[in-house]
Formats: sequence, C-alpha cells, structure tokens
Amino acid sequence: MESQLAPALPDVAFAPQRLGHANYDVADLDKAIDFFNRVCGLAIVATERVPGVIHAAFFGNGHTHHDVGVVQRASGKTGLNHLGWELLNEVQLVSAYRRAAARQLQFGDLTNRGGLSKSVYIRAVDGTNYQFYADLTFDWRSIFHGGDIDIHRNPIWDPLAEEPSPKSFYNPTPTMKIHGEGLFHPLRIDHATSIIPMSYSPEEFWVGVCGLVRVGPRTANTYRFASASTGKIEVMAVRARGIKSPEHHHLTLHVEDEADLRASIAAAPGKGVTVERVVDEPHKLSAFVRDPDRNLIEFSVPRIGGFDGVLTNLDPFRA
Ligand SMILES: [Fe+2]
Repeated sequence: MESQLAPALPDVAFAPQRLGHANYDVADLDKAIDFFNRVCGLAIVATERVPGVIHAAFFGNGHTHHDVGVVQRASGKTGLNHLGWELLNEVQLVSAYRRAAARQLQFGDLTNRGGLSKSVYIRAVDGTNYQFYADLTFDWRSIFHGGDIDIHRNPIWDPLAEEPSPKSFYNPTPTMKIHGEGLFHPLRIDHATSIIPMSYSPEEFWVGVCGLVRVGPRTANTYRFASASTGKIEVMAVRARGIKSPEHHHLTLHVEDEADLRASIAAAPGKGVTVERVVDEPHKLSAFVRDPDRNLIEFSVPRIGGFDGVLTNLDPFRA
C-alpha cells in the first residue's frame, strides 16, 4: 500500500515543541567525549559516572540542556538509543500518555530526573526509542553545570499519581553559544533522518503517534515532518530499497555559516577526521562524519527554498 493520508493513530499525538537531543549507546565513553566535544564542537555540559548505574556524558551549546547524550553500556551495545522530544508542559505529556495507554502503546521507562524533566519513553518504528519529556525548570544549567552529576538514580515516575503541572519551562529562544574549539561549529541539533521501506506508511507513527505534521509535496518519496506548533522540520524519512523496516540513518547538527563549514571541512584531514561525504546542492551545504561507533553525523547549513528539486531522489544523504 502507498502512504495513507489518514493516520491510524491520530489521537495519540504527543505533539512536541522540538527535537531536543539524541542519545547514543557507545563502546568507549572517553572516545565518544573526545568526538562530540573536540570534533563536533559541542560543549561538555555534564558527565555522570555512577558505578553500576550509568557511565554517561552530555553535550550542547545551549539549545536545551543537552543536544547529544552518550552512554557506555555494560552490554557493549552501540547505536542510537533514543531521540528526546520536548513538550510544552507536563499536562500535555500526561494527556498524551493517557491517550497512548488507551491505544495499548508499549512504554519504556517513565522517569523523573531530579528536577530536570519528566519523561515517557516509547519504542519507535526505526528501532530506536522516542523520549517525550517536559522540563521542570528553566534553570537547567544549575543541574547540567559542566561537571559530574548524579540524576539517573531517581525512582520511576507514575504519570497518573498526581495532578500534572500546567507550568511550561519550554524556552523557544534559548541563549546559544558556539563552542569554538571543535573542528565543526554547530549551534544546535537540527533533525533526524530515517530510511523507510518502499511500501511503508510513515504518517502512522510520525503524525499519528508523535503528533508532528507532514510538510511539503505529498507525492514524493521524501517525507518531512515538522513540529505542529513551530513549523520547523524535525524528522525526514526517505524511501530506500532493500530494507524491511524503518532505520535511523543520520543526525543533523545545524551550522550557521557556509564559510565556517567549508573551513571545517578543509581542516578535517589535518585533525585526523575523515569527512565521508560533502553535499553541496541548492538546498544545503553539508558534511557527514562518523562517530567512533560508526554513527553518521551531519553538519548542515540549509539553503532556503531549494529543497523541492531533490524530493524524488532516494539518497538519504541528500535529504
Ligand atoms: Fe534523553
């Protein structure tokens, strides 16, 4: 079946304000810290090394409390663990949780991270997890203060145990600062791209469950999903031959300035960094590198208005 325009789960709709972060399972925490800080140019906002609990680090330049998190697992498992989606407030989070529970969605962790955020995790179609969260403070810098933290030992959260707060700690205009010492100089996380089978209907999950809205022409093989409240594109899904189920393909970090990105690309070999691919087309200038666990990270400067020309191209690097 080709894509259905009426999503099967229209009434779940977590409806996040934005993609806040990506969280990877990594084989070696120190190597991952070196990569996301020194290569990617994201500041270290926190490390959390609690034996038997978590071995993690968090990075960002001020967009939300972190743009990227990495966790070294005892199992040795690697790859994208989850994408974190920020909601307006706890009321919206709990009401979406109730709708999802009524539809028998499977939940992962339900967490309350020490005054930082409350979260509901669900299994996503691309094999990762989606964390929908509401922040509990504007002052996340008092928790993610650049040093060691200990917030993952908190008990699980029961979303139905108390009246959810309507207060919003979503900051649409955060103060961001480029971390100048990295090879690349991104400002923030931008979007995630998945590849999907030729016959898969992506709207069921990204519209029906997540509550994103599809934008752009509806007949193409490239799907763009935006936050319903901001209109900013947060997910791309590109049809690919030879796959059986959706897969995460890459994470994109937003770079402001083309000349700066070109300088980073030129400087990469001298820093021992391989740029796997450069895309220089009407809709973007971007560079792809792989993290120590082979995950693809894209640094991208969007060029406004040039996207429609690539909509029928099936190469997910060009999305
Ligand atoms: Fe997270």
